[in-house]
Amino acid sequence: MENIITIDGPSGVGKGTVSLKIAKYLGWHILDSGALYRILALVAKRNQVSIDDETKLVALATELDVKFISLADLSKLQIIYAGHDIATEIRDETYGKIASQIAVNPEVRTALLARQRAFYTLPGLVADGRDMGTVVFPKAKYKFFLTASCEERALRRYKQLINIGIYVKLSELAVEIANRDQRDTTRTTAPLIAASDAFTIDTTKLSIEEVVECIVSKMVF
Ligand code: C5P
Repeated sequence: MENIITIDGPSGVGKGTVSLKIAKYLGWHILDSGALYRILALVAKRNQVSIDDETKLVALATELDVKFISLADLSKLQIIYAGHDIATEIRDETYGKIASQIAVNPEVRTALLARQRAFYTLPGLVADGRDMGTVVFPKAKYKFFLTASCEERALRRYKQLINIGIYVKLSELAVEIANRDQRDTTRTTAPLIAASDAFTIDTTKLSIEEVVECIVSKMVF
């Protein structure tokens, strides 16, 4: 077993925030795997590569020249692509949608696999996404799957976007993330599903702190 904690779940459930807090608590590294799919979406859009062009997408995924820089206290993550920090830009739902369309492609997923696994270095890694516990890190020490009602997830994502200056309509966002979840859950390769050995937490009525406490309470080191 490796010193890895996987936190999977649908859009807007709070995986990112919870993962940051757990990583901070343990002093471990962090992998936001969704960011990789979003970056690929942005790069594909900028290069006018169609979501159906597997050859070009795989080439882009393999060569993706991107640097993740996190402050020592993990309070901020910079994602440097072509000399610019795109961490905020990729949060736009435009890229969430393209990311999930691209993510159905098994070849694209394979092209991103080694890059994701390379995030694991000592003392350990907290990895969040959709297939962290099932495909990318099947030997993780602890696996969690977070859920929450659709309404609550839409609201959480809405507040998160407003916080970083991205203005959206709550009703439109709710439809967009429902569509994305549907696509992520029903795809053939690495669908959004809890690993058989994952601990599932319904976070609908829990605060971030309560979710973190619940996760920490399950861990024995
Ligand atoms: O987590 P985030 O919303 O940033 O992810 C964007 C999209 O990337 C997801 O909707 C999903 O389609 C894809 N993704 C994935 N596997 C992961 C992480 C994200 O397919 N491990």
